[in-house]
Amino acid sequence: MSGEPRLTVLGAGYLGITHAASMASLGFDVLGVDTDAARVDQLNAGHLPIYEPGLEELLRAGLGAGRVRFTTSYSEAASFGDVHFICTGTPQQPGSNRADLSQVYACVAALAPLLDRPCLVVGKSTVPVGTARRLAAELSQACPGAELAWNPEFLREGSAVADTLAPDRIVVGVTSGRAEQILRQLYARPLAAGAAFIVTSLETAELAKAAANAFLATKISFINAMAEICETAGGDVRDLAQILGADPRIGPAFLRAGLGYGGGCLPKDIRAFSARAEELGAGASLAFLREVDAINLRRRARTADLALELAGGNLTGVPVCVLGAAFKPGSDDVRDSPALDVAQILTGMGARVTVYDPAALENARRARPELSYAPTLADAAQGAHVVLLLTEWPEFTALTPASLEGIVARRNIIDARNALDPARWREAGWEYRALGVAEDAADRARLDASPW
Ligand code: UDX
Repeated sequence: MSGEPRLTVLGAGYLGITHAASMASLGFDVLGVDTDAARVDQLNAGHLPIYEPGLEELLRAGLGAGRVRFTTSYSEAASFGDVHFICTGTPQQPGSNRADLSQVYACVAALAPLLDRPCLVVGKSTVPVGTARRLAAELSQACPGAELAWNPEFLREGSAVADTLAPDRIVVGVTSGRAEQILRQLYARPLAAGAAFIVTSLETAELAKAAANAFLATKISFINAMAEICETAGGDVRDLAQILGADPRIGPAFLRAGLGYGGGCLPKDIRAFSARAEELGAGASLAFLREVDAINLRRRARTADLALELAGGNLTGVPVCVLGAAFKPGSDDVRDSPALDVAQILTGMGARVTVYDPAALENARRARPELSYAPTLADAAQGAHVVLLLTEWPEFTALTPASLEGIVARRNIIDARNALDPARWREAGWEYRALGVAEDAADRARLDASPW
């Protein structure tokens, strides 16, 4: 290939749209491919099907400059591209912990027979270790000039553009110097800006993503396990996290105790990682990830129990206000959302739950139509006996007791993200509860009765 390589991005989901728009902004000609014609039309018209700050502007700039467009045609992609990025989703298989790789395989099966000149196919999707090697064999069988590389993506929702254009590290799993060279050329700008470039095997590149997510999930569950201990031993996990985080060997990131992690990546990725380890006969090595998952899910049950306590032991018919539906602030994603799970548990306990979220209401309604939603915070809190802060949106963390005065029927609040100032709420006469602090009567009684 001579001159600037032309790129295709296969799969126009979170990853694919961000990658396509970002590579166009780096000056490459990009063709995005998706089988969903309505999505393709929407993207070509400059509209994002997802909520991601800065991405729509980037997409529109790319469309305006004629650097990016979208199609449903794989044959167009095959003749257009010198480098093809696989960005399809790998969700959790229903009824199993394994990843569903059907979209990745379908994408390669559609592209490979159409390739008729040397090209590089670069996997970015999160896949179980071993997948790339299999895909490489399939690819070279269909087109001897086609080579596979793996280049995992570490972007976070809410900062996807910055994470793509200015990443900490670019990991490339390659089987030739030529592939490495092409990837260096594509990422020249972020590399010049200081991103680390780590060249490794296909397997290590696949593992890099699984291991990074497993570590992040473990860090969150570690602090949430400490929260459980604090609840039973009388400690305060917020202070504990601050103390741990001040040690540079530990660091403060991902030590926010609370309702735990959710979203489209961490939960399913650590489950798929465990499942893959078991398939490889190395299940024992990742057995701890089952506990990481269990700790994470226990936080949801604990939050619901706190609401039950504040409601006096019976939630039947009790009006409850749930603040948050997105799995984290800055996103409208409700996949494996801890907040929606808690809303569901409370509903199951008989409460009359009303959910409010500044960005994720539409998605929440689609995912859990059985729950009730309100268009504003005040509407959701109207007449509530218990308010639960479950996603730390700025609109919620800025809440004051005065702002809910005359709206709620009873002054009970659960701060499941440790985002509010406890003293302020208590001084205003509220019953304030948080995760990771033993402050309720039941905890005190248990502490007093506990043996030395
Ligand atoms: C994550 C990884 O960070 C990213 O590298 C990978 O590519 C995809 O998965 P994302 O799912 O966008 O990104 O969210 P992230 O910001 O990592 O947060 C994940 C979850 O952990 C959220 O539910 C968040 O609320 C929770 N979290 C995060 C905590 O509970 N405590 C913390 O200290 C940090």
